[in-house]
Amino acid sequence: MLRVENVFKSYLTPQGPLPVLQGVDLSLDAGSSLALMGESGSGKSTLLHLVGGLDKVDSGSIRSGEHRLETMNEAQLANWRRTEIGLVFQQFNLIGSLRVEDNLAFQARLAGRHEPRWQAHLVQRLGLGDLLKRYPEQLSGGQQQRVALGRALASQPKLLLADEPTGSLDEATSDEVLRLLLELLDDTPTTLLMVTHSPRVAARLAQRVVLSSGRLT
Ligand SMILES: Nc1ncnc2c1ncn2[C@@H]1O[C@H](COP(=O)(O)OP(=O)(O)O)[C@@H](O)[C@H]1O
Ligand SMILES: [Mg+2]
Repeated sequence: MLRVENVFKSYLTPQGPLPVLQGVDLSLDAGSSLALMGESGSGKSTLLHLVGGLDKVDSGSIRSGEHRLETMNEAQLANWRRTEIGLVFQQFNLIGSLRVEDNLAFQARLAGRHEPRWQAHLVQRLGLGDLLKRYPEQLSGGQQQRVALGRALASQPKLLLADEPTGSLDEATSDEVLRLLLELLDDTPTTLLMVTHSPRVAARLAQRVVLSSGRLT
C-alpha cells in the first residue's frame, strides 16, 4: 500500500540547510497500522507531510498504491489527497463555523464520496448522535477529536495519517478515542500511519518504528 524508499528532506533555514530525513525507508501493507515514534524535532511530522503529498521529497520515492507521488503535479496531488487520504491532527482543526454534522460531511462531499449511510454509521460508532447540531467550540477535546476522526473517515480514505491525534487528550480520553478508531478501522481496508509520543498508544498498533538521526529504526 505504502512504500517509502531512501527519502531525503532538508529545510532551508537562515543558518543554511537543515537535514531532517536522511534515507528513510518504510513499507506498510494495506489495512495495517504503524506507530511512528521519535523525539520532538526528529522529523515525524515532516515524514507524514511527505507521505500525505503536502510537501515534496528532495530525493527518494514515495509510492501509495499505484501512485508515485514525486511524479504528480499539484492538481493531481490535491485530487489524490481529497479522495484517498484522511488527515487528523493534534489540534483537531475542525471548521469552527460549521456544525458537527457539516464538519463530518464536508470532506466527503469534496471527495465526491458523501454517503449518508456510512456517515450515519460513523456517527453511531463514534457516539456523536447528540452532538450533531453543536459547533466545535461547544465540544470537549475528546469530542472534537471524535468528530475529526469521523470527518477523516467519512470519505473512506485508503490511508489515514494522524499526527499525535491523542497528544492533547488526557489518558482516559486518549484510550477511548484510540479504541473507537481501531474498532472502526477493523471494519475497513483503511491503512493507518500514526505519529505518537505515547508508548501506550503505540503498543495498540500493529507495528512501531522510531525516527532517529534522520532514519527509521
Ligand atoms: N517549514 C520548516 N522550515 C524549517 N524548518 C522546519 C520546518 N518544518 C520543520 N522544521 C524543522 O525540522 C525538524 C523536524 O521537524 P518536525 O518534522 O516537525 O519534527 P517532529 O514532528 O518529529 O517534532 C525540526 O528541527 C523543525 O524545527
Ligand atoms: Mg510533529
